[in-house]
Amino acid sequence: MELQPRVLLWELVLLQSSAVLLSSGPSGSSTAGSSVVSESEVTWAAGARAVLRCQSPRMVWTQDRLHDRQRVVHWDISGRRSGGPARRLVDMYSAGEQRVYEPRDRGRLLLPPSAFQEGNFSLLIRAVEETDAGLYTCNLHHHYCHLYESLAIRLEVTDNPRAAGAHWDGEKEVLVAERGAPALLTCVNRAHVWTDRHLEEAQQVVHWDRQPPGVPHDRADRLLDLYASGERRAYGPPFLRDRVAVEADAFARGDFSLRIDPLEPADEGTYSCHLHHHYCGLHERRVFHLKVTEPAPEPPPRDPPGNNGSSHSSAPAPDPTLARGRSVINVIVPEGRAHFFQQLGYVLATLLLFILLLITVVLATRQRRRGGYEYSDKKSWKSKGKDVNVAEFAVVAGDQAFYRSEDIQLDYKNNILKERAGLAHSSPPAKSVDLDKDFRKEYCK
Ligand SMILES: *[C@@H]1O[C@H](CO)[C@@H](O)[C@H](O)[C@H]1NC(C)=O
Ligand SMILES: *[C@@H]1O[C@H](CO)[C@@H](O)[C@H](O)[C@H]1NC(C)=O
Repeated sequence: MELQPRVLLWELVLLQSSAVLLSSGPSGSSTAGSSVVSESEVTWAAGARAVLRCQSPRMVWTQDRLHDRQRVVHWDISGRRSGGPARRLVDMYSAGEQRVYEPRDRGRLLLPPSAFQEGNFSLLIRAVEETDAGLYTCNLHHHYCHLYESLAIRLEVTDNPRAAGAHWDGEKEVLVAERGAPALLTCVNRAHVWTDRHLEEAQQVVHWDRQPPGVPHDRADRLLDLYASGERRAYGPPFLRDRVAVEADAFARGDFSLRIDPLEPADEGTYSCHLHHHYCGLHERRVFHLKVTEPAPEPPPRDPPGNNGSSHSSAPAPDPTLARGRSVINVIVPEGRAHFFQQLGYVLATLLLFILLLITVVLATRQRRRGGYEYSDKKSWKSKGKDVNVAEFAVVAGDQAFYRSEDIQLDYKNNILKERAGLAHSSPPAKSVDLDKDFRKEYCK
């Protein structure tokens, strides 16, 4: 029974390692805070100049040289009974200047002076007149953030005090005001972009990321960082770093398109353009699944004469495998580890189950042998042999199931254990290829 302590030790070791590995298994698939606004498949030939388009006018850097004149509210009126185009009634900059356009409205139309501090842009009409009826719009412009919001209210004037009130017509508020009474057209927007002064000059950042094939988004490689201040940083694998670029005037035009020139087969992967304007609350991601095809002019010279059928299937082979070979190196070692360990954990757990079954059989056999020695040799060895054989078959699916001597059996089991243990240690490299393929299937759907 000196085997038992050793086996128990093995069990413990295996149990522990598989527990640790399993617990580290499900990797946190945390997603970035930005929303995906577009996702597209793009294909370019190797050697070409690839351009991944990423543009947003809201990312144009409008430096606020005037300091805090970048927000404005204005109230307009249209749809009056007298007809005529929309007319501006009153406007106000975030700096606090209020302008009333018609002389007759001065002192009659009021905006709260603290509108941009409190987010209350409501218009007060001191004493409603018949001509005030119409469609009013409260318009908020944020020049710095390229934001525009508008709210419509219809004002109706009545002589009947009991008809006064407000209701919703399905699209907008309808306010019925009594002639001569004050009317408050409510327009409240407390979102911080309308109420805060912005202090930092540039909170605009653009990133380009790249995921080699099969790598999830949270493990993407950063390729480029661009700041509105003009600062730039390039990362990414050396083989790619020198071939990617974004135009120097990107922030002036809001065009952050990535050029890859010249394109190589190994550049395949998923590219993401992240636009962040922290102050304006802009967080957008554009995703490109880049495929690289054979370069156009190459195929003709590669066809060897005569060998038509097989050459077709073998000719395109070198490039994809080259690309895959590179990407496997990029993928597995630094990034696929958690997933790989998870799989390894399953393998080990299965192994453990096998070993436990094996031990149970060994112990059961030994016990029975010891207990049944009185009447052993002559009578029961046939039936016992059968027993053992059945068990062995079940567990080992054995080609070597017909051992009868106990010594040989023990040796044999030792060997199996050793083999299993050896397998557990040697399997990872062989296994990793399959796992990688599995993953790729999963992520490249
Ligand atoms: C907005 O300001 C007006 C005064 O101009 C006031 O009567 C009204 O209650 C305010 N609304 C809110 C929601 O603060
Ligand atoms: C390809 O080879 C086969 C015989 O190997 C021949 O019958 C066939 O005509 C060939 N096709 C072309 C396009 O050369």
